[in-house]
Amino acid sequence: MVRNFFIGGNWKMNGSIAEAKKLVEMLNGFEVPANTEVVVAPPALYIDRVHQGLKKEIKVAAQNAYLKASGAYTGEISPQMLKDMGLEWVVLGHSERREYFHESDELVGKKTAFALEAGLSVIACIGEKLEEREANITNDVVARQMKAIAAEIKDWTNVVVAYEPVWAIGTGKVASPEQAQDVHQFLREWLAENVSAKAAEETRILYGGSVNGGNCKTLGAKPDIDGFLANNVSRSVHALINTIDIV
Ligand code: G3P
Repeated sequence: MVRNFFIGGNWKMNGSIAEAKKLVEMLNGFEVPANTEVVVAPPALYIDRVHQGLKKEIKVAAQNAYLKASGAYTGEISPQMLKDMGLEWVVLGHSERREYFHESDELVGKKTAFALEAGLSVIACIGEKLEEREANITNDVVARQMKAIAAEIKDWTNVVVAYEPVWAIGTGKVASPEQAQDVHQFLREWLAENVSAKAAEETRILYGGSVNGGNCKTLGAKPDIDGFLANNVSRSVHALINTIDIV
C-alpha cells in the first residue's frame, strides 16, 4: 500500500481577505502531482471563501472543531457544520490548542472520534516540548498522546498523524531528518503494536516544525516521513515543489 504524500498548510490566525485571495490564486496555479494530497487550513472566517475559490484538487481543513454537533457552545464550530460546508478535513490537537486552550490528550482523543464519526478526516497533531526532549521522554510523550487517540477510535483510515515537536514550531529550528525519522519510526512501530499492522502500514505521519523549501527534501526522503504540515502556505507549497521528485 502506497502512502500518498501529503502537504498541509496551517495558516493559524493569520491573513486577511486580500491575502487569502492571493494564496488561493497561487495554489490554483500550482499543479498537484499524482499521488499527492494538498490540504490547507485557513482561519475559520475565511474557510468558505477559500473553499469556494480553490480548485477541487486542493482540499480545505478547519483548524479545530468541537465535540458536539450543535447547541449552546458560544464560539465553537461542529464537525457536522464543517461537513455541511463541504469540507473534508479538520486539524485537531495542535500544540497551540493544547497549550493556550488547555486541550488535554483525552479531549483531543474524543474530538478525533467525534469528527471521524461526522465523516471528516482528521490531521491529529502530537509532539513534545523542548524540556521533554531534553529529558529524553519524547517517545513517552508521543506514545501518551497516541494512546489517548487510540482509546477513542478503532479505524485509523481517515487519520493523518502530524508529528510537530513544539520546539521546532515557528522557531526556525527544524528537527534534523534523523531526529524526525526516529520519532516517525517509533510512531509507526507504536501503531503496529497498539493498533494494527494495517494502521502502521497505511497511516501517514507528517512532520511539522520550520519546514521550508530548503529542508523539505532531506526530511521527505526519510522512509517514515509522509509529508509536511507548515504554517505558511507559500512555504508549504515550496516544500511540495521541492519534493516533487521524491513524491
Ligand atoms: O501546524 C503547522 C505548524 O505548527 C508548523 O509551524 O511555522 O514551524 O511551519 P511552522
